[in-house]
Amino acid sequence: MEKLGRFEKEFDYELLTDKEKLEKYARDETPGDYYFLPDAAFLPTETDSISRLLEIDNDAKIPIIPRGGGTSRTAGPLAVNGGIVLSTEKMNEIIDFDEKNCILEVGPGVITEEINKFLEKYGFFFPPDPSSVDSCFIGGNVATNAGGARCLLYGLTRDYVRGIEVILPDGSKEFLGGRLKKDATGYSLLNLLIGSEGTLGIITRILLEVVNLPPYSATLVAPFKKLEDAALSSFNILSSGITPSAFEIIDEDAVKVAITNLDKKIPMAEEGTLLIAELLEDSKGELEKKFEIIGNKFLESNASDVFVAEENHQQEKIWDFRRNITEALDLFGTIIPEDVSIPRANIPEFIPEIKKLEKEFNTRVFTFGHIGDGNLHVNILKNEEWKDNGDKIINELFKKLNTFGGKISGEHGIGFTKKKYLKYSRTEKEIKLMKNIKSEFDPLNILNPGKIFDIEEKNA
Ligand code: LAC
Ligand code: ZN
Repeated sequence: MEKLGRFEKEFDYELLTDKEKLEKYARDETPGDYYFLPDAAFLPTETDSISRLLEIDNDAKIPIIPRGGGTSRTAGPLAVNGGIVLSTEKMNEIIDFDEKNCILEVGPGVITEEINKFLEKYGFFFPPDPSSVDSCFIGGNVATNAGGARCLLYGLTRDYVRGIEVILPDGSKEFLGGRLKKDATGYSLLNLLIGSEGTLGIITRILLEVVNLPPYSATLVAPFKKLEDAALSSFNILSSGITPSAFEIIDEDAVKVAITNLDKKIPMAEEGTLLIAELLEDSKGELEKKFEIIGNKFLESNASDVFVAEENHQQEKIWDFRRNITEALDLFGTIIPEDVSIPRANIPEFIPEIKKLEKEFNTRVFTFGHIGDGNLHVNILKNEEWKDNGDKIINELFKKLNTFGGKISGEHGIGFTKKKYLKYSRTEKEIKLMKNIKSEFDPLNILNPGKIFDIEEKNA
């Protein structure tokens, strides 16, 4: 292909153009009809070749789309306008553990779970734990500021990124941040790049702060007959000042789908909407004290029972079930996966509002997720009769969301699928500022174009 000519001359094994091999990069985990075969895939093993790729592309001007583990739910790493997908899968080295500074240095292609396997022997861990932890890459986590269940107590990916090496769209290399806890030296470009969804630069090396892993843990499961009681219960516990490391909800319908579609079972799963809380503590006494308090509070809020798992294998079973809810729903039908974030105090009133959409639009709506954070995965079953691809129900959900002070994405980002809804959560002025930033970093609009928003052609 003509437009790949210069790339093919420059690169050999790093550049894939064989259609069969490209299939792997044509999809991610966005449900529905999102298939975009790229013109090529680029699998660098080192940073300099990424610089060369971008230098050539400053003439060729075709889209370069960075890709991590391909677990996006918003079509973030897909070649929606053709171009070259740049997969960091071969840059998967754990480079250094600087114990003195508690900093782990990694390549972007390290699978997130590998980080904790590595750190375990030192008694440390990296808390952000997206449900796709066994297949997502840390580079993608940084690029999307990924969340996860433990973000409730420990914060998001952003809170652990101390530095990144990044290749900018002109091919130049910068290092942002350092082995520092504090850095108030002007604007934080580091934080601008974190969560920029591969539109401003390509992350090629990461410094992560890691923390001590508390030795005692327990996971509580409590079923509720009424969704409203579960929502209120979680709110009451958090506002009494107790913050579990993770606090999740799975509504009754989603639990049922999971029981049917996954070959997994957990205690009490058949009894309604589930609240799941994890405690990580430094002493056994503190652990027991807290699970007593939480357990009693669950019962006071009409939980029909409480199960406390203390053995690691029992806890892992519960979390494995929770992490696979998305998979179960994807097996059930075509889901429109929303990922809203709202002030915690508004959750008890917001959740019943979501359910009302089912009747209004003649479909099913499954809700689960990080109730402690106010970050809910609202999963709308696509009704194949809808002519508008679900646009109406999504707009209705987001209108409700705005009345509760929410934002349209808590952790999955905007990517390709949500850009038309960005206006619900950002003002015109904010979007203009974001576009100006994009144009300053990437005047040719070659890096992951068509994501978050569209940049109008200057002379169009
Ligand atoms: C989860 C993903 C969908 O929380 O973010 O399971
Ligand atoms: Zn989530």
